[in-house]
Amino acid sequence: MNREAGGGRREADKTSCTTYAVQPGGALSGTVRVPGDKSISHRAVMLGALAEGTTEISGFLNSEDCLCTLKAFRAMGVGIEQTAPAALKVRGAGLRGLHEPAGVLDLGNSGTSMRLLAGILSAQRFPSTLVGDASLSRRPMQRIIEPLSQMGARIESDHGHAPLRISPPDGLRGIAWHSPVASAQVKSGILLAGLYAQGSTEVREPGVSRDHTERLLRSFGVTVESREGRTALAGGQVLYATEVPVPADISSAAFFMVGAAIVPGSELLLEAVGVNPTRTGVLTVLRKMGADIELLNPREFGAEPVADIRVRGRGLKGISIGHELVALAIDEFPAIFIAAACAEGVTELSGAAELRVKESDRIQGMCEGLQALGIVVQSRPDGARVEGGSLQGGAVDSRGDHRVAMSFAMAALRAQGPITIRDCANVNTSFPGFADLARTAGLKIGVLS
Ligand code: S3P
Repeated sequence: MNREAGGGRREADKTSCTTYAVQPGGALSGTVRVPGDKSISHRAVMLGALAEGTTEISGFLNSEDCLCTLKAFRAMGVGIEQTAPAALKVRGAGLRGLHEPAGVLDLGNSGTSMRLLAGILSAQRFPSTLVGDASLSRRPMQRIIEPLSQMGARIESDHGHAPLRISPPDGLRGIAWHSPVASAQVKSGILLAGLYAQGSTEVREPGVSRDHTERLLRSFGVTVESREGRTALAGGQVLYATEVPVPADISSAAFFMVGAAIVPGSELLLEAVGVNPTRTGVLTVLRKMGADIELLNPREFGAEPVADIRVRGRGLKGISIGHELVALAIDEFPAIFIAAACAEGVTELSGAAELRVKESDRIQGMCEGLQALGIVVQSRPDGARVEGGSLQGGAVDSRGDHRVAMSFAMAALRAQGPITIRDCANVNTSFPGFADLARTAGLKIGVLS
């Protein structure tokens, strides 16, 4: 569970004083294209770096999290060139072509970078150290250390937390791992280590987690088997460079979907959004609440399905959300809490304890923030009960969590008074330009720093 940052951890987080001041009311309208998918952007750089040949990535998310991944591979000698604002050329070093970095690899706020890199670096013939900011240093790493150690990796941690100190192994062997959590980061870290292992590596999960790693590995020429909660690959396969077009991130689009859905009269078109079925839980949840959402012009971006999403605002109703939808909408719950607060009746969320170990404890952060805005909520160990009501103006703290900050910004559309959100600099980890884009769609958002 969460721990306070302490002994030996990096305390030098940037002091964040960005505050959002959002005036109440308005509606969202027009056409919006949110930036590229964060999960796919990380993976495109990683697989491009391990491939033979030059990979071209378009629609790359230039956010702080993805730049941590990019800098880490540059520090290991991989040539990465930015050819346009969202386009990269990655000169692959091959599976064995990475070099020992000169210093520690600082992965900032990015859990995806740390857990996936742990898999890749566990197999290298050089030592490495992975560090992160205070939030990342509180997040559980044992879930990736344990399976990698069974494969033969040598990882020292601070009681299951970063920094991770990785030493060269004697060799990795494939394992069959039954993960206690449905986690794409854990699954992906293990599969990436499996590329270097003797024999085959298999991951079983208790639920469906996002499958971008598997899809992208296949487009780099790797054979990956996926069926019935089981994903497996054989070690020793070579990756061949390819083109990776990155769809717009459904997790970023979710703030706009909720913003439009909660205001009758809104009509918004979100362009080229990734609609991979392992990510579309938010569409299921919002539709169950009564939202008017249409998917238009379905098409493929490389290995990923995309569509334009039209949302029209109308009254929503409270629902029950159980564990089966949690992994499919894992990053969208802060926004879903806002939809619940604006709905008629009660929304109950259960089976979502994972939300407590994200960039912040998102159950606590959303419950406290909604309470400060006059909504009746009850937090539970694995979820919450939210009574739809009338949002008042007020001040909330994002606790440095990008998704909490953007969710409360959208809440102002239905609030009776202005909402001030403190500690919003971390929005840049996933969605640089959020406030400007939201303003063009109709949110009355100001940024104070
Ligand atoms: C991610 C997986 C999810 C998600 C995170 C990104 C990924 O985490 O919450 O924002 O890119 O694989 P878990 O795998 O821990 O559920």
